[in-house]
Amino acid sequence: MSWASSIHTIRVNVKIRNDDSNSERISTVNPSRYRFYDLHPEAADFRVDVIQGLSAPQPAIPPKYFYDQTGSKLFEAICATEEYYPTRTEVSIIRDNIDEIVSTLGKQCLLIEPGSGDSYKVRLLLDALRPIAYLPMDISRLYLQEEAQKLAEEFTWLKVHAVCSDFTRELTLPYEVKAGQKVAFFPGSTIGNFTPQQAVKVLEEIGQMVATGGGLLIGVDLSKDSRVLNAAYNDKAGYTAQFNLNLLHRINRQLGADFKLAQFRHHAFFNAGQQRIEMHLISKTSQQVHIMDDHGNEHCFTFNQGQSILTEYSHKYTVEAFQQLAAKAGFEPVRTWLDAQRLFSVHYLRYIK
Ligand code: AVI
Repeated sequence: MSWASSIHTIRVNVKIRNDDSNSERISTVNPSRYRFYDLHPEAADFRVDVIQGLSAPQPAIPPKYFYDQTGSKLFEAICATEEYYPTRTEVSIIRDNIDEIVSTLGKQCLLIEPGSGDSYKVRLLLDALRPIAYLPMDISRLYLQEEAQKLAEEFTWLKVHAVCSDFTRELTLPYEVKAGQKVAFFPGSTIGNFTPQQAVKVLEEIGQMVATGGGLLIGVDLSKDSRVLNAAYNDKAGYTAQFNLNLLHRINRQLGADFKLAQFRHHAFFNAGQQRIEMHLISKTSQQVHIMDDHGNEHCFTFNQGQSILTEYSHKYTVEAFQQLAAKAGFEPVRTWLDAQRLFSVHYLRYIK
């Protein structure tokens, strides 16, 4: 079940997660409607990941580390900019097509959201869909409990079964569910933050979880004019630049490194050959950065002027290219919804393996 070694966990949540402790939040929700399953996910090792990533021929930092408290706030600010169209466009596609989406998914499904975060977008579906239960899955234990309980308090008819797990390592359900009833929800074009090869593996895992006849409702950003894409990742207010540079600030703060933030600049561009946005941090001068490992050894990284640290890929697809990718993982297209400008797509796919 493990494709995690080569894949960076992607954090997509806009709310702040302050803890990763083992403590449990006491629920005030009726136990017939709220359950918490702890699959005890392994904690990621920030220090090891950063040292390994910076040691690679193309130095890189896994994008999951964007989302500390400041990074989460900055991502929220990015989503509200005029240039960053994906969030508002996906929300409007779901709102505008809610009746069709619900009739396509069918009532009485068990709705599962890997990497559920603050469960913001699922709120658009719940009242109309009335699933038999909603299973948010997230690695951050207390955060998941807080968000899942809030949801159960807000939707007083809904069964919420929160599952603490790392969906990039293991996608298992805590109990048996009849075949054909399971639908995964994977919004936000998070799939684009994986390479196409990795994305097939993610989809395969989701397919195995929902089983034959199960479904996947997924948001995917579309290929488009490079000017629109470049603007979305280079917003005028500079939130994306701050979001990118905040990674170095976080590494300094949490790992005691000595990155000089003023000596790096944000660089995001659309790579047309690969159909992806690439985010990098470019070294403005020749410089060295030091980080200690867990054994007390100091690692010294040299960056030449103009050298980059890769921080994120964000792949874009045509509807057909995404359907082909999903077919490799065993999904057939059932329906696709787009906005009028064809900026973003929401697909419903059925697992047929
Ligand atoms: C979370 N993810 C889908 C965003 C994206 O567009 O790839 C992350 C992001 N990076 C910069 N802006 C937004």
